[in-house]
Amino acid sequence: MCGIIGFTGNEKAIPKLVEGLAALEYRGYDSAGVAYFGGGILQTVKAKGRLTNLAARLENIAGEGITAGIGHTRWATHGEVSDVNSHPHGNQRTCGVHNGIIENYSELSAYLETEGYTFASDTDTERAILLIDFLYTRTGDPVRAMQEAAERIKGSFAFAVMFSERPDSIYAMRRDSPLLASPSDVGMFIASDISAVLGYTRRFARIEEGEVAVLTRDSIEYYTRDGKRLTKEYETTPWNPEAAERGGYAHFMIKEIHEEPTVVSGTVRPRIRDRLPYLDLPLLTAERIQSIRQIHIAACGTAMHAGLIGKYAVEKLARIPVNVEIASEFRYRNPILQPDDLVILISQSGETADTLAALRLAKSKGVPTLAVVNVPGSAIAREADAVLYTWAGPEIAVASTKAYSVQIALLYLLSIHFGKAMGTITEAETRNLCEELANAHQYIEKSLGLADHCRSIAEIYKNHRNIFFIGRGRDFALSMEAALKMKEISYIHCEAYAAGELKHGTISLIEKGTPVVAFATESAVFDKMISNIKEVRSRGARVLLFVPEGYAIPEDTADDIIRLPDIPEVFMPLCAAAPAQLLAYYTAVELGCDVDKPRNLAKSVTVE
Ligand code: M6R
Repeated sequence: MCGIIGFTGNEKAIPKLVEGLAALEYRGYDSAGVAYFGGGILQTVKAKGRLTNLAARLENIAGEGITAGIGHTRWATHGEVSDVNSHPHGNQRTCGVHNGIIENYSELSAYLETEGYTFASDTDTERAILLIDFLYTRTGDPVRAMQEAAERIKGSFAFAVMFSERPDSIYAMRRDSPLLASPSDVGMFIASDISAVLGYTRRFARIEEGEVAVLTRDSIEYYTRDGKRLTKEYETTPWNPEAAERGGYAHFMIKEIHEEPTVVSGTVRPRIRDRLPYLDLPLLTAERIQSIRQIHIAACGTAMHAGLIGKYAVEKLARIPVNVEIASEFRYRNPILQPDDLVILISQSGETADTLAALRLAKSKGVPTLAVVNVPGSAIAREADAVLYTWAGPEIAVASTKAYSVQIALLYLLSIHFGKAMGTITEAETRNLCEELANAHQYIEKSLGLADHCRSIAEIYKNHRNIFFIGRGRDFALSMEAALKMKEISYIHCEAYAAGELKHGTISLIEKGTPVVAFATESAVFDKMISNIKEVRSRGARVLLFVPEGYAIPEDTADDIIRLPDIPEVFMPLCAAAPAQLLAYYTAVELGCDVDKPRNLAKSVTVE
């Protein structure tokens, strides 16, 4: 999604804006632009496409004396991808950038037209910035103008705005879209995401809804809704700049896959004490757990797939019913929620609009909420009743990999904790499971040794336009994630199917050479899986089988086999994830795709 960076200080602003935008590229975007005060007026430079296009246009600007500016990466919502629709928007007096969606932009257009305004772009943003401009001409006070605009705007937003009459200042506010203010030794920053400023500072304050932040060269002031000055505490992110760099790898995605053993161990081990789960949250006491009627997991994309693995684990170990739902469906279908339910929200970014809305819905019904989130201090983490952080560090590649692995590792720990509280597993079993989970990183490390094998299989897969992924039970959930990974970065159409369901229709698509990726890691349904594989093979499918090392497979079951390390069976998804991700990665690399920034996608999906 869109990204915002702003800087005012005593050093050149343009290089910092470009640096910040580069750090925000991972969020996904289709054009970029900056505004700064130069030659006595507000100037904008914008370019459709990659940031390099904008950087080339900025090359001829020496930047001497330009010490304040705002920058933006746009992910189009209203209006095509073009220079003119790129941000910043506004006029000679007021210029701003925006993340989010303005829902009443037609109404604002009509109103502004009656006030004599015309529009250069098709964007909702231009209307919102011109509304701020209009209110500024009425009040002469940027803070009031911002606050009055916020009252009239419907939708989500994070704004950074400059006024030509206040050349060194940046004004910022937000609603439902993240925005941080960060002081540093070189000047003051505003950013939609801490990664944009990590090269200068790790300190930040989150601007809350209703507040306006005013950045000047050497200070940041905050104002409440009724115009009062506010003192804010600064937080320090645990992330460091190196964690957000590629560190010698060709892409962030492959770097992040290789981090999986370390981050899984780092997420799980500190939460195991004396070989027992140590999840010290009032929401997770044995008494509270025993009173849970039903667990609902709401999440999107990969996080939802992690939730499905969590469902299998919780139902197996704790026998509590779990309903997993896509957050965008959950939020609008008036789900049956009761006060003795528990709603778990899973999100890497902690900012996904639909997941945040699902959280708010649960809270409005008085249902306790637990967030499983990666980004410290994100909206979902802060608004949930309790949070369990997945300590994966920054995930930059749009395709989620290490975040998925830590999500499932943490859900395993949670399900062991639930099982112990429910008495569905004994203390001895709890300790064994904890010990095995604490050692899972060693198996994941071994599974990374399959990289070359995955690469050689990718050379075959790159030539196909359709791939099926099949599995039963937990392996079906794995298939869904493996298919999503392949689709989003290689642009090959993939379909995940419950293996036993194929014969009810989809098997008609299998013909000679159709690739089918089969996961067979569950002993209870292994024989059934082998039968389903035989069914597609006898119709000509080319089968790639993911199967644990220790399983004997009948002769002539598959064309290619990936043997997964023999981690205890319940934890098998932790070992299957990396090879499935590697298969997608190498296929996309073979096809020359932009692996870290796939087309049309955004890392943090802050619109619904
Ligand atoms: O930040 P979140 O975990 O809430 O994001 C949810 C999805 O947008 C995300 O997992 C998406 O599906 C990824 N691109 C998948 O790789």
